[in-house]
Amino acid sequence: MTASPRSPQATPVLQVDGLSVDFGRADDAVRIVDEVSFSLAAGETLGLVGESGCGKSTTVLALLRLLPPRVSARVSGTVKLNGDDLLRLPEKALPAVRGRGITMIPQNPMTSLNPLFTIGRQLEECLDGPGVSPARRRELAIEQLRAVGISEPERRLNQFPHELSGGMRQRVVGACVTARSPRVLIADEPTTALDATVQVQYLDMLKSLQARSGMAMLFVTHDIGVVARICDRIAVMYAGRIVESGKVDTVLRSPRHWYTRALIDSLPPLDRQLDRLPTIAGTLPRPGTITEACRFAPRCPAAHDKCRTDIPPAVTDTDGHVVACWTPREQGSGQ
Ligand SMILES: Nc1ncnc2c1ncn2[C@@H]1O[C@H](COP(=O)(O)OP(=O)(O)OP(=O)(O)O)[C@@H](O)[C@H]1O
Ligand code: SF4
Ligand SMILES: [Mg+2]
Repeated sequence: MTASPRSPQATPVLQVDGLSVDFGRADDAVRIVDEVSFSLAAGETLGLVGESGCGKSTTVLALLRLLPPRVSARVSGTVKLNGDDLLRLPEKALPAVRGRGITMIPQNPMTSLNPLFTIGRQLEECLDGPGVSPARRRELAIEQLRAVGISEPERRLNQFPHELSGGMRQRVVGACVTARSPRVLIADEPTTALDATVQVQYLDMLKSLQARSGMAMLFVTHDIGVVARICDRIAVMYAGRIVESGKVDTVLRSPRHWYTRALIDSLPPLDRQLDRLPTIAGTLPRPGTITEACRFAPRCPAAHDKCRTDIPPAVTDTDGHVVACWTPREQGSGQ
């Protein structure tokens, strides 16, 4: 088992257990996501972090059953949303679940509105549902715009996206995504296309929508700064496995896995601009070359013989801090 970030709260809204994804034909399949487990409670935000290529997007696409159909993939494990296993629901039940149960925010909020349709039409489509009259839809659209801080919502409904500022367009996208009050919102790197100030505004808007609706959020990013800003818990992924998880403050202040330490060290210092970002020495193992060992061993300063022959089990302390490492860093150690 990999380190599994369990929410300390009561019944989780989303419970992922042993999620694995193998790409390719059975005889030469390559495992990209390996026994990933985590849970999310209402109102809580979990940050899933890790280097490019470690399997973050594959994890969320697999749990939403959105891996492209042309890709030959085998997905195993369970993904329970309010008790229903999404991996076993019939295809025809999925659209309803994806609207109000679990939904994904578009990667680039600036370009995800259709330039040919008014804001009102696009927002009303998000609010479409059985038994909602056109007049009521219009009222709800106005309410949604007001809720995300857009002034003169009645006038905005008749405008096209290019007539709104960038910040307003993002707010419309936020209103659209949350209009159906999803129980779980998944955001896969939604801010990388935005400049720093707009990014901060966007994250703050998501947090205030969450405060209002109580939705749970899974935030996928390679940016630990974003996690520190908006997440309650963090799960650190390396080569398809979760290697460390726990409360954001604890893990960032006192990381116990050597990979988490390296990831934090690769952040630019707050007080100065660097020409290039520091990187972690070495590279992720190529998928398919992964052995029965700690996958970080070739890059780890503390690796020893056992690390190269056995997968480290996940160990949880009393605070819910989970680490999968044969020789974790000392608790509270700054280095
Ligand atoms: N359809 C596919 N078939 C085979 N391999 C794939 C497929 N899609 C992704 N992969 C591989 O799976 C690994 C994980 O990719 P994934 O996109 O999940 O990473 P990621 O952590 O989201 O990276 P990033 O931070 O760059 O978005 C990569 O090695 C990628 O090349
Ligand atoms: S198990 Fe060994 S190689 Fe892996 S992170 Fe821990 S000390 Fe390093
Ligand atoms: Mg990705």
